[in-house]
Amino acid sequence: MSKIRVLTVFGTRPEAIKMAPLVKELEKQPDVFKSIVCVTAQHRQMLDQVLKLFRIYPDFDLNIMKPNQDLWSITSEVLLLMKDVFDKSKPDIVLVHGDTTTSMAAALSAFYARIPVGHVEAGLRTFNKFYPFPEEINRVFADAVSSYHFAPTDTSVQNLVNSSISNEHIYKTGNTVIDALLHTVENNRVDLSYIGLHPELKTILLTSHRRENFGEPIRNICKAVLELVDKNKDIQVVYPVHLNPNVQQPVNELLGGKERIHLIEPMEYAPFCSLMKESHIIMTDSGGVQEEAPSLGKPVLVLRTTTERPEAVEYGTVKLVGTDTQKIVDEVQNLLDNQDEYKKMSESINPYGDGLASKRIVEIIQKEFDKE
Ligand code: UD1
Ligand code: UDP
Repeated sequence: MSKIRVLTVFGTRPEAIKMAPLVKELEKQPDVFKSIVCVTAQHRQMLDQVLKLFRIYPDFDLNIMKPNQDLWSITSEVLLLMKDVFDKSKPDIVLVHGDTTTSMAAALSAFYARIPVGHVEAGLRTFNKFYPFPEEINRVFADAVSSYHFAPTDTSVQNLVNSSISNEHIYKTGNTVIDALLHTVENNRVDLSYIGLHPELKTILLTSHRRENFGEPIRNICKAVLELVDKNKDIQVVYPVHLNPNVQQPVNELLGGKERIHLIEPMEYAPFCSLMKESHIIMTDSGGVQEEAPSLGKPVLVLRTTTERPEAVEYGTVKLVGTDTQKIVDEVQNLLDNQDEYKKMSESINPYGDGLASKRIVEIIQKEFDKE
């Protein structure tokens, strides 16, 4: 029997985290699948951290990252360079993930080569093409050219159905991020002592990197942090700062060297999961963190005005607060002062998955591509 040739393509940290369990699942059945991995390295250091943790050794590494790169260069390089990867690897199916420019361009490149595309984390939408930018259009695009849609939740399935994509190949699978999270929390012991946290203080974990937040919004977030730390002597803030220069510059300028504010390098995934577990409150504009934190029972304040992940907002464990300084201060202060509100938001829920999404996706691919 000839094997099903599955080419998995990813380029950034969150894609790597969410595709790793799928690659591992494919590798469990070497008689059925020939698993081929291509990284574009849209991210370099932040991608390599994940490859190391999950012991993934890519067959192709396009190594495209440039300092302060723009959308044109990522798109054109991925679109072109993937052609050669397809010629060499001859995949039966190409898997891409979510909404990055790597995913959009790799999906388009595969479509041009007439290779079926499977879109993992399909169907997420805010219905606003500028929020998040360019991710909303990247995912619409990836869905449009894909033949197989692996949607994490009922809402994402419904979004695909409403967008008149053929129902035949839409599958509700759960989100592979929960596979990655559960595996990582279970299998790794980590030491966070290097951060220098004070055990008697409440920890607020902060991450922010979205393009829409560059400039004034990220400065407003930093000002809110300064005000909160000044007003509350019993809190400390940890911010693993994204390597994007548009984030590094204002964050280091406004928060660098301040008491009870720990600016640290992007963390490896396992210690980051531990830090989420140890935190009292999480403030973030990240997509992945919005999915992980509710399953760890942590209240999340989202530094955005819309989200493509409405499920945990509906449950009440995630709240959209935007980027107005006063609004952020008020919402965090309310969670610090109001125990009932804190309790309501810290209920552990799992709307995004049960840890078996990768297994489901692999079963579906096997069924669809069985060559016997
Ligand atoms: C990208 C994705 C975004 C995703 C985010 C996850 C696009 C357009 N954006 O945004 O959807 O939420 O990744 O983090 O696909 N850099 C490094 N080392 C790294 C990573 C980044 O130095 O390991 C710096 C480089 O200067 C790079 C810059 O950050 O040029 C921006 O990286 P890029 O991937 O273009 O944008 P992100 O903001 O990371
Ligand atoms: N993450 C990490 N180290 C960090 C910050 C985040 O491993 O220092 C993980 C986080 O747990 C989540 C993913 O990276 O799985 C989210 O990546 P990011 O916020 O950069 O992108 P997004 O999800 O917004 O696209």
